[in-house]
Amino acid sequence: MKSGKKAEPTIVIIFGGTGDLTRRKLVPAFYNLHLDNSIGEKFAVIGMGRTKYTDKTYRETLHEGISEFSRRGRPDDGRWKSFSEFITYLPSEIGEEASYQQLGERLDALDAAWGIRANRIFYLSIAPRFIGPVTANLSRANLAGDIARDRIVVEKPFGHDLQSARELNQQLARTFQECQIYRIDHYLGKETVQNILAFRFANTLFEPLWNRNYIDYVQITVAEQVGVEDRGGYYEGAGALRDMIQNHLLQLMCMIAMEPPVSFVADEIRNRKVDVLHAIRKLSPEDVSRYAVRGQYGPGWIEGKKVSGYRQEEGVSPQSNTETYAAVQFFINNWRWQGVPFYLRTGKRLQEKVSVVTVQFRPVPHLSFPGGVADGLLPNRLIMHIQPQMDIRLRFQAKQPGLQMVLNPVEMVFDYQSSYTDQAPEAYETLLLDVMLGDATLFMRADQVEAAWSVIMPILDTWESRPSLEFPNYASGMWGPENAEALIARTGHTWAVSPVSNGENGKTEKKETEKKEVIIDKVPVVSRRGVVSSKS
Ligand code: BG6
Repeated sequence: MKSGKKAEPTIVIIFGGTGDLTRRKLVPAFYNLHLDNSIGEKFAVIGMGRTKYTDKTYRETLHEGISEFSRRGRPDDGRWKSFSEFITYLPSEIGEEASYQQLGERLDALDAAWGIRANRIFYLSIAPRFIGPVTANLSRANLAGDIARDRIVVEKPFGHDLQSARELNQQLARTFQECQIYRIDHYLGKETVQNILAFRFANTLFEPLWNRNYIDYVQITVAEQVGVEDRGGYYEGAGALRDMIQNHLLQLMCMIAMEPPVSFVADEIRNRKVDVLHAIRKLSPEDVSRYAVRGQYGPGWIEGKKVSGYRQEEGVSPQSNTETYAAVQFFINNWRWQGVPFYLRTGKRLQEKVSVVTVQFRPVPHLSFPGGVADGLLPNRLIMHIQPQMDIRLRFQAKQPGLQMVLNPVEMVFDYQSSYTDQAPEAYETLLLDVMLGDATLFMRADQVEAAWSVIMPILDTWESRPSLEFPNYASGMWGPENAEALIARTGHTWAVSPVSNGENGKTEKKETEKKEVIIDKVPVVSRRGVVSSKS
């Protein structure tokens, strides 16, 4: 992994250069890397697309994108001027050889001007069906023949199922070696997600307890308030399982469940993660109805605003069988995790935007305190908030001050905002710099992607063969379908945050599932710096 390194001379060629991702994420990320001095003067971005932009009009659209989406807001004129000179546009057709010849001429001209063969990053922000034609054309035009210098970045969706993911991997492998291929899962670039590795493997405290003997269960929630927005067309063919669980949630699960790596070499980390995927117990079709729950949002209320249901969204069939919510209970068949449930859930149009990992420890084996003293006692729990809140909270028991021995749960909190003044980089900044530095640790290897597809295939197949008769089965603004509560209740557990409807227009009030947890927010909170603050 990088430590304050600067990228070598690099040309980034974006296929899909006029798309939303380029405007919202990629160019704002390059801009911030430029401000942070992580990229040098020998840097260029070539946007490729069918729209007839000039360099000037193309730059203008990107300027708007940065103003709207960069974490630093609107660029100041001087900085924008120096940055915008890196960017040019090439009107092109993905399927036409002439476009690749023109690209080749532009790449050669930059190399000649810089007096060096620059690294080339081919960034594919295009639909999967174009990946084959692009890589074949790059190969034919001999633009990506330098194994050490030429890299390709592939955005999700990486396939539609196991079979199509395999085919994509084969297409890529015809032109690129595996070490040149960077498959992006933007969750891995998030600061709080990377911190899971630091938390687990740079501390002695937790690792000895990180197993079936001490951990009761693990929950991973990625909840969104937004609906499908303007991506109805894509989402109809995807659904929550493909869109979120196959990649982001399974990757989070791997980071929580992996064995300690021997080193931080990319393949060492990726090997440990792929081990987890291979060890996940495969669900049979009968298991699917027991361990997986799907949902689709209907109309409802989000933060006081009425919103439409999924079937009323643009590009969505009024009879759609696509799930916008999925919850799955997985087990990992290995010595460390045998018998420990991993509950994963994700959904759109839920009550809150929150991504959080909850590790619930087992209750103490024996309570030596006299009756009544420990009535409020709750097992230790570790909560890692990934976003938008960024913190790690450890719940433990403490004696309530006073003459009596009364125990209460309290929290120790490490909060990014109060511990660090620097703004965290966006996931894409981290990931793009890693590609420029040739560090593949946070990217998906071919076998990882295929292993993740293998895990969800039984669920996908079962759900596709049995359309849901209940959709829509949760109102927007709720925490998902009722069945998801039943899924976890069967094992005597509850989701860490659970809905309580007030019955009005489907609106819901947030309330902690376990009543006693309310106490936690009222007791002193000890921050990482030892500061004690009183939260109410
Ligand atoms: C994307 C999904 O991969 O992740 C989207 O395609 C989803 O549907 C998004 O909204 C969530 O990302 P984040 O970073 O906002 O949690």
